[in-house]
Amino acid sequence: MDVFLGEWLNLLLRWAHMIVGIGWIGTSFYFMALDYSLDKEERKSPGVLGTAWQVHGGGFYHVEKFTVAPPILPPVLHWFRYEAYLTWVTGFGLLVVQYYLHARAYLIDPAILPLEPWQAIAISVGALASGYLIYELLCRSPIGHNVPALAASVFALILIAAVVFTRIFSGRGAFIHVGALIGTIMAFNVFAIIIPNQKKMIAQMIRGETPEARYGAIGKQRSTHNNYLTLPVLLMMVAPHYPFLFSHPHAWMVVALILIAGATIRHYINRVDAGDDWSKYGWTAPAAALALLAAIFVTAPQPNVSGAGISDAQAVAISHKHCTACHAMKPSHESFQEAPKNVVLETAQDLRKYADLIYMQAVQSRAMPLGNQTGMTEEERAALGHWVQKK
Ligand code: HEC
Repeated sequence: MDVFLGEWLNLLLRWAHMIVGIGWIGTSFYFMALDYSLDKEERKSPGVLGTAWQVHGGGFYHVEKFTVAPPILPPVLHWFRYEAYLTWVTGFGLLVVQYYLHARAYLIDPAILPLEPWQAIAISVGALASGYLIYELLCRSPIGHNVPALAASVFALILIAAVVFTRIFSGRGAFIHVGALIGTIMAFNVFAIIIPNQKKMIAQMIRGETPEARYGAIGKQRSTHNNYLTLPVLLMMVAPHYPFLFSHPHAWMVVALILIAGATIRHYINRVDAGDDWSKYGWTAPAAALALLAAIFVTAPQPNVSGAGISDAQAVAISHKHCTACHAMKPSHESFQEAPKNVVLETAQDLRKYADLIYMQAVQSRAMPLGNQTGMTEEERAALGHWVQKK
C-alpha cells in the first residue's frame, strides 16, 4: 500500500479506535458505578433490586435495576454493544495496518526470533485466538465458580502470554499483543457471552417464561472481569511509545505490576462508588503505589558499558549505518516516506540536537533501530552513547 495513504488509514483507524473505546469504557464505568450506587432500601416496583437518583447535564434521572428482568418486556430497549465490537474491529485493523503490514519494523526482532513476516502474523492470530479460548475454558471450568481462583488463573494466563510474547516478538510487539489479548477477551465477553445471554432472557420472556437469573449472573461476572481489565488494557495500548517498559529482560514482570496496579486502582474506584468506608478499601492505595514503584524500579536504566571516545565522523557513520534508512529527509526504508516523528539524524548537528532522545532510544533502551533490522551491536550502542553524552 502507498505509504502516505497507509499512514492516513492508520490515523483514521486510531481515531475511531479511541472514540469507540472511550464510549465502551465509559459505559463500563457508568454501569459499574450505577450498580454500586443502587439504593436497595427504596424498593418501589415489584421485582426491583434497587434504584438510584442521578443528576447530569442539568437533569434528574431515576434508574431502577430489576433483580432479573421486568415483568413485561419493554417495547424499546437501549443496548450497549457496538462500542465494544467496534473497539475490537478498529483495534484489530490497527494491528494489521501497523504491525502486520510492517512486521519487520514493528513486530519482529531478529535478535529475539528471526521470523518471516507471515510466520509472525500467523503466530499473532493463533495466539490471540488460543489465549481467548483458554480464558473461556477457565471461566466454564469448576475454577469459574471460585472468584479468587478464577482471578488468579486469568492473571497467570496473561503473565504466561507476556512471557511467551516477549520470547517471540519485538518488545513493542510483545506489549501490544498483551494488550490485544486482554482487549480480545473483553470484547468477546460482550459478543459471545453478555449479549447472547441477555438475548436468551428476552427470548424466554417473549415465550411467556420466567427468564433465568443465571444468564444475568454469568453476564455480570464477565462484565466485572472487563471492569478490572479496563485500566491495565489502556496502559498496554500506549506501552509501545515507552520503550523503557520492555527494553529489559523482565518485561513480563512489568506486565504483572501493571495488572496489579490497574486492578487495585479500579477496585479503589469501585469501592468509592459503593460508598464504602475508607477502612475497607484503604489498602488499595499503598498496594497500587507499591506496584507502580516496583515497576519504576524494574525498568530503571542499567549502567551502560562505557564506550570508547569516537569522533563526530564516526558517530555520523554509525547513524548512517543504523538510523538514516528511516531517519532521513528522504528515507530509503520502504515503510517510511518521511523521517519518523520528524527526527532526522543525518549530520553531527542533527545528532547533537536529539542527543537525549538518541541516548534513551538507542543506548539505554534498545528500541532503536526499530526491530534492530540493521543489527546494531552493543559496542556501537556504547560508542554512540559515549559520544552523545559528551555533547
Ligand atoms: C526501521 C526504521 C528505523 C530505524 C532504522 C531507526 N528508527 Fe528511530 N524511529 C523509527 C520510528 C517508526 C519511530 C517512531 C516510534 C513511535 O512512534 O513510537 C522512531 C523514533 C525515534 C526517535 C524519537 C522517539 C520519541 O519518542 O520522540 C528517536 C530519537 C530515534 N527514533 C532514534 C533512532 C536512532 C538513534 C536510530 C539508529 C541507531 C534509529 N532511530 C533507527 C524508525 C526507525
